[in-house]
Amino acid sequence: MNGSEQTQSADSAGTMTSSADRMVGMDHAEVRYFTRSYRDSIYQNRHIFKDKVVLDVGCGTVWLYRFAAKAGAKHVIGVDMSSIIEKAKQIVACNGLSDKITLLQGKMEEVVLPYPKVDIIISEWMGYFLLYESMLDTVLYARDRYLVPGGKIFPDKATMYLAAIEDGEYKDDKIGFWDNVYGFDYSPMKEIALTEPLVDTVEMKALVTDPCPIITLDLYTVTPADLAFKVPFSLTAKRSDFIHAVIAWFDIEFGACHKPITFSTGPHAKYTHWKQTVFYLRDVLTVEEEEVVSGVLENKPNDKNKRDLDITISYKFETTDNLRYSEDGQRKITILKPLPPTSAGKKFQLRNTVIGVYDKGKAGSVVETEQSIVDENGEVLNGDYNPLHATPEPGQKMGFGGVIIHGLFSWNTAAHGILRELGGSDPKNLREFQARFASPVLPGDKLTTEIWRTGNIEDGFEEVRFVTTNNRGKVVLSNGRCLLKVTGSKSKL
Ligand SMILES: C[S@@+](CC[C@H](N)C(=O)[O-])C[C@H]1O[C@@H](n2cnc3c(N)ncnc32)[C@H](O)[C@@H]1O
Repeated sequence: MNGSEQTQSADSAGTMTSSADRMVGMDHAEVRYFTRSYRDSIYQNRHIFKDKVVLDVGCGTVWLYRFAAKAGAKHVIGVDMSSIIEKAKQIVACNGLSDKITLLQGKMEEVVLPYPKVDIIISEWMGYFLLYESMLDTVLYARDRYLVPGGKIFPDKATMYLAAIEDGEYKDDKIGFWDNVYGFDYSPMKEIALTEPLVDTVEMKALVTDPCPIITLDLYTVTPADLAFKVPFSLTAKRSDFIHAVIAWFDIEFGACHKPITFSTGPHAKYTHWKQTVFYLRDVLTVEEEEVVSGVLENKPNDKNKRDLDITISYKFETTDNLRYSEDGQRKITILKPLPPTSAGKKFQLRNTVIGVYDKGKAGSVVETEQSIVDENGEVLNGDYNPLHATPEPGQKMGFGGVIIHGLFSWNTAAHGILRELGGSDPKNLREFQARFASPVLPGDKLTTEIWRTGNIEDGFEEVRFVTTNNRGKVVLSNGRCLLKVTGSKSKL
């Protein structure tokens, strides 16, 4: 969200609501809506289920495998690690289905099934934001271990969508609240509120843009590695309005049916307990009809608990109107080979490129050129063409009061300082560096970077979090995260 990371840290094993609780919590209309899709996909396809061995992964209470048994399956196996299975066994017995249904309590990855292979897998595996606390990884395990070649999966397709919404009032309530808590400025808490996505029901009329499908998971082919993805999106405004948040939802398809059956968890569809997931943006975007907000959504299972997700949404709203232009400001660099710390011994060339020739008639012509400094590998050194960093006028017009320092300066000095403190100033020890430009740095500002070692190790590099503030206590770099080989620590961390 806003280029920031939302790390959801609930422990799925410990906090997952039991399916019985969940069924109790469900609205009757919901039970009819999404369970009907499951029921129809089975009952309308008795020819597919007849005499087949069916596995219900994470079977919970009663309903999926009961449908399958009634649709003529030869045998149905239900597996669930929760103790709810005891109740399920009683329900099966009450309905005289014990000889057709085997219920096993345990982890799908550990139990021994009474059949070596199954013909059909059914599962209701979806979590919030499709994948949060979802058990898709377990379904994929069952598919690879037990499904016969050509076997069927119900459902077999899931598509995630994004759209942008107007939500000024609620955002003010939820995020603006921290600006004044009984007369105190609690704005540092805003950061946390902004990084936590919200599961809520969004009204259709709040949608400012068309939905944009971002990814479709085909359950026959998707692999656990595909559940970490980085996908672009492009949202086109349907009307002139403000954008406060991006929302996500998913649609489910039972493509193996004779006539495909679908259900949606979007704001246009009937209520489901998955609702929609709302990611508030730091900025309010002022968009006009047909203008486009583009960006990238990155999702990856959390390193500590793979059913938790780290989601990053970065966006850019490009318009010729400078006052409405907006960009989230989160930038990340992954260092694939060590950066040279000095230019000593390197050869550089100054390359001139003609980038435009303008015919001015009798007055002659104007040739526009660009000069780049290139090293012997053809790599271009960074240059700064932005007048905002050189003359006061643009900054004054944009409300900064004058010249502001190039964001890369604060970025680079923070990187330099962290590497000096923890990585022995050796560029080989820095693998990844990211931060969000939260507010401008003015000439003469004194910056302080606070660093936290998290102890999380990725490929031998330790995760370090940081935040940089100026001498007025304002955060200039937020969401700081880097991966470092810590060689020693000069400071008390
Ligand atoms: C969303 S519920 C679906 C329940 C079922 N469709 C129902 O409504 O009765 C997911 C179920 O999967 C179970 N589960 C999660 N991970 C599992 C695993 N690795 N092995 C077996 N069961 C699992 C949970 O205990 C939970 O009951």
